[in-house]
Amino acid sequence: MSSIDIVAPLDHLDKEPPPPGPSLRRVLETLGEGGNAPLWHSDWAWENYERAVLALAREFGLWRLLEIGGGRDPAFAAAARENRLRLIVNDIDPLELARVPEGIETACFDVAGDISRRPELYGAFDIVASRMVFEHIRNVPAAWRNIYRLLRPGGVGLAFFPTLYAWPFLLNHILPDDIARRIVERVFPARAPDGDNPVFPPVYHWCYGDEGKLRRMLDPIGFSEIRILPFWGHHYLDRMPVLRELDFALNRFCAAIDWRFFTTYAYVVVRK
Ligand SMILES: C[S@@+](CC[C@H](N)C(=O)[O-])C[C@H]1O[C@@H](n2cnc3c(N)ncnc32)[C@H](O)[C@@H]1O
Repeated sequence: MSSIDIVAPLDHLDKEPPPPGPSLRRVLETLGEGGNAPLWHSDWAWENYERAVLALAREFGLWRLLEIGGGRDPAFAAAARENRLRLIVNDIDPLELARVPEGIETACFDVAGDISRRPELYGAFDIVASRMVFEHIRNVPAAWRNIYRLLRPGGVGLAFFPTLYAWPFLLNHILPDDIARRIVERVFPARAPDGDNPVFPPVYHWCYGDEGKLRRMLDPIGFSEIRILPFWGHHYLDRMPVLRELDFALNRFCAAIDWRFFTTYAYVVVRK
């Protein structure tokens, strides 16, 4: 593990307009053509997270990727090894970063915290991506403002997170942390504390698939383009066939009428 060593140009950061080129909308639309799962289902989001970020990097000519909350198992380690991008893994927890594979750069800070004393981070990244991190953040507007600062003009941010008011996350939100954690560990044994993917307590602030709600928070930050991709469906009932089918049909219905109140996950994609 090595610590971050990036010298960012600090002047002109907020003055440059994004370079001309394809729009986020166009790049994201072409992504829908791949993948085995239907685009509305959260399986698509899980299967295509890395592909989506790498496609955005390719289309916009982006190179330096900051993976927020990458933890012990960064999603882009393989792409970095193949030299498809330069990866810097962030986490709030130094113990998580201590487990990052050897040779990958790390940057320990709270994405929603005060980064004003870390000027080397300003405008230092072309892409800022995160998976299953925003549900743990208390001050989500501050995190998005920081992402704006971390990106160079024309850079892209993508956050993939679970959303309210999907019932598994609503339950997780309402139940005491300890009980919720035990339920998740029972349904998904790999999520035990000594597993690959332990449970971190979520708060679900600003975790919605509703575009209007999210835009009220994101629009004032100054991104040049904002896209929200909503997803429905999950695997919490896989061991209960009848309920699973019923739940699947309900989720498909919600997707068909674009009922954002019951999304299960969302991608929020922004361009500076
Ligand atoms: C559920 S894990 C997700 C890990 C990884 N992104 C993945 O998809 O497997 C959440 C991670 O986000 C980190 N995290 C939580 N709050 C954070 C914050 N405010 N800033 C940076 N990292 C944070 C946690 O320490 C943890 O490693």
